[in-house]
Amino acid sequence: MSEATALAHPNFALSKYWGKHPAEGNFPAVPSLSITVSGLSTRTNVRFLASCSDDRVVIGGREERGAARTRVTELLQRVRSAAGDRRHAEVISDNDFPTASGLASSASGFAALALAATRAIGLDWDASRVSDLARRSSASAARSIFGGFVELPDVAPGKTAPDQLSARPVAPAEHLPLAVLIAIATDAPKSLSSSDGMRRTLERSPYADAWLTEAPRLHERLRSALLTRDFVAMGELAEASALAMHAAAIAAGVCYWDATTVEALRTVWALRNQGVETYATIDAGPHVKVLSRPADALRIRSALEATPGICRIVEGTVGEGARLVNPEDPL
Ligand code: PMV
Repeated sequence: MSEATALAHPNFALSKYWGKHPAEGNFPAVPSLSITVSGLSTRTNVRFLASCSDDRVVIGGREERGAARTRVTELLQRVRSAAGDRRHAEVISDNDFPTASGLASSASGFAALALAATRAIGLDWDASRVSDLARRSSASAARSIFGGFVELPDVAPGKTAPDQLSARPVAPAEHLPLAVLIAIATDAPKSLSSSDGMRRTLERSPYADAWLTEAPRLHERLRSALLTRDFVAMGELAEASALAMHAAAIAAGVCYWDATTVEALRTVWALRNQGVETYATIDAGPHVKVLSRPADALRIRSALEATPGICRIVEGTVGEGARLVNPEDPL
């Protein structure tokens, strides 16, 4: 049977990956640490068929033909080469949340695709190798292979890129129970991909070097705060990492924020002034992801509901890594 279906969740980085190593192969220039977030899912079915004359890629019911299809076929090509199998594939993928809008659909998408494609073609790779495969398409996707708190090491500028670079689990979800409220600002796709945004930041931002120096330090401190279960320090460092990343990007004219982003940030800061320990993180899109202890989530939710511009709020928790499922399983 040359078919497999995988389900994966997006992940949100607490310490951000922003910037690639100059070597070919999509290596991050800074380390990152994320939470895999259940509450949002991608399900991807892959079938390798001798009767297919070319790869067919259907995302959200729409047949892809442009750059989105190419990114998928490149991964399929790596899998075919590794397996010594020339068959083309049909890929059918669905998200239960907006695609390409800064909600990490590329992370869940390429994690689900990497797992389903390797299994469908008969490669019995371990999670680390599947993570390396996913990283080549989208570095953040390497982290969604694992559940809980997950780290992706960097290849520091000046160091030689290794053959394989995979994410690795740092702590299970139960290590530090968290609530994640996602304040959705729009369902529209973003206008600048994260790859282009990070390239422009490194090329043009006067703060590019500051970011490349500061990001690994924030990462190390955040990792220690997580390991000692220091929620407040971890939240402060997560927010600091997101703000430093966006400050460096904005200085290069790369701005993913809109008015709703600022309003949601102000809500988080106002809650903090009232004594609620809650922190924000923002990726390559306008949505603010709000972290808290589970007991505070209700209060934060009502404050976000009263914030202008937020379309809706999705609740998540720290969840499982990518896994094989039945094609009929609901999303
Ligand atoms: O892996 P990409 O190309 O989708 O880039 C991810 C970039 C951020 O989401 C902004 C940060 C991160 O570490 O996930």
